Amino acid sequence: MKSNGLFITVEGGEGTGKSTLVNSLYTYLTERKERFVVKTFEPGSSTLGKEIRNILLHRKELVISGRSELFLFLADRAHHIEVLIGPALREDLIVICDRFSDSSIAYQGAARGIADLDTLEEICLFATDGLVPDLTFYLDLDPKIGLARIKGEKDRLEQEVIEFHERVREGYLELSRKHNDRIYKLDASKTPHEVFKQALTILEDKCSELL
Ligand SMILES: Nc1ncnc2c1ncn2[C@@H]1O[C@H](COP(=O)(O)OP(=O)(O)OP(=O)(O)O)[C@@H](O)[C@H]1O
Ligand SMILES: [Mg+2]
Repeated sequence: MKSNGLFITVEGGEGTGKSTLVNSLYTYLTERKERFVVKTFEPGSSTLGKEIRNILLHRKELVISGRSELFLFLADRAHHIEVLIGPALREDLIVICDRFSDSSIAYQGAARGIADLDTLEEICLFATDGLVPDLTFYLDLDPKIGLARIKGEKDRLEQEVIEFHERVREGYLELSRKHNDRIYKLDASKTPHEVFKQALTILEDKCSELL
C-alpha cells in the first residue's frame, strides 16, 4: 500500500521518552531537512480513535477483557492507517508515529498473555493490512525509572503493577532481537539529547537516501 514515504515508529514502555523523541525527530526533519513530516500517535489520532482512546485509557470504571483491549487498539490502528498514515505515505511523506503494532505485541502479548508473539504479529498484520514500519526506535529503560518520570494522574495501563511493565520490556527486547533489521534499541536512560543523537545516527545510516 505504501510508495516512497518513510514510516518511522517510536516504541517503549511508559515514560521512556517516546513523545520527546518524536518531537525532536519532527523538529530536526522539518526545520533542518525541510521535509514534510506527519507526526502522529496511537491510540487516538482520528475522530473515532479519540473515542477508543478514552475507553481504553480513561474510563476506569469499565471492565475491559484483555482480548477486547487488544481489538480496541487494533480498531484504532486500522482506522488511523485508513484516514491518516496510509494517505500520508502515498503522498511520499515521512510519518513518525508514537506507538504502533509493536506496542500491541509487547502489551497485549508479552504482558497480558493474550497470545504468543508470532500469533499477535499475524493479527496485527491483518489489522494494518500488511503495513510494517520502515524503521522503529525502541526506547529501552527500567520501568521503575520510566514510571517515576510520569507526572500527573496515571492512566489505566500506567496503573498496572510493576511486573506487567517488566513483561512489556521483555516483550520489546524479544521483538528487537527478532527484527534486528527494523527495530533499533536505544538507551533511554541517557539524556534526551543523547537519545536523539543515537536515533539520528541510525536514521542517517539506514535512510540517508530519503533524508
Ligand atoms: N531521556 C530522558 N531523561 C530524563 N527525562 C526524560 C527523558 N526523555 C523524556 N524525559 C521526561 O520524562 C517525562 C516522560 O517523557 P515522554 O512524555 O517523552 O515519555 P513517553 O514515553 O511519551 O511517556 P508516555 O508513556 O506517558 O506517553 C517527561 O517529563 C519528559 O520531559
Ligand atoms: Mg507520550
